[in-house]
Amino acid sequence: MQLSDIADDLTDILYTEEQIQDKIAELAARIDADYAGERLLLVGVLKGAVMVMADLARAITLPVEMDWMAVSSYGSGTQSSGVVRILKDLDSDLTGRKVLIVEDIIDSGLTLSWLRANLESRGAASVEICALLRKPAAAKVQVDVRYAGFEIENEFVIGYGLDYAERYRNLRGIGVLAPHVYRD
Ligand code: PRP
Repeated sequence: MQLSDIADDLTDILYTEEQIQDKIAELAARIDADYAGERLLLVGVLKGAVMVMADLARAITLPVEMDWMAVSSYGSGTQSSGVVRILKDLDSDLTGRKVLIVEDIIDSGLTLSWLRANLESRGAASVEICALLRKPAAAKVQVDVRYAGFEIENEFVIGYGLDYAERYRNLRGIGVLAPHVYRD
């Protein structure tokens, strides 16, 4: 689905498919250089990271492994609390592994900060983070993101994995959701 297909639901276009792919290629090149000769495990966080994971993994020229986690943050409404429940755990044993967590967005930072500590506690050799988007104004905890894509304003963004009520994940670009969509 293209941004133009849902133009009425958007107040702004943030990143086109091309801009996203350019950024992914840039991040992949850095990952290639940093992990050359290593056995890297990419950990995608469902569901939002599916698109980033699919494109990033294919842009990387090293042989990587992929695994997935699904987590849910306890909290009221859209506010995450930092208390995280694992809905689907990894299949892989992390002992001695170099792990790169792949995320679509860091909002408060609470999910990622919990997740990094959790994966480190399993004996991983290293745990780094790659996130396509980050909202500095929404940060409640500082998360050290080694591979960061775009910094965005504190707005309701959708597309390229990011949803509103499970919709818009299949949008090729990223846009700002118009208030009439979530107020109606
Ligand atoms: C989003 C995103 C991160 C988390 C970031 O997932 O994919 O996992 O929120 O928020 P935080 O920095 O405030 O912790 P969401 O819970 O919306 O689930 P989804 O990926 O299935 O859409």
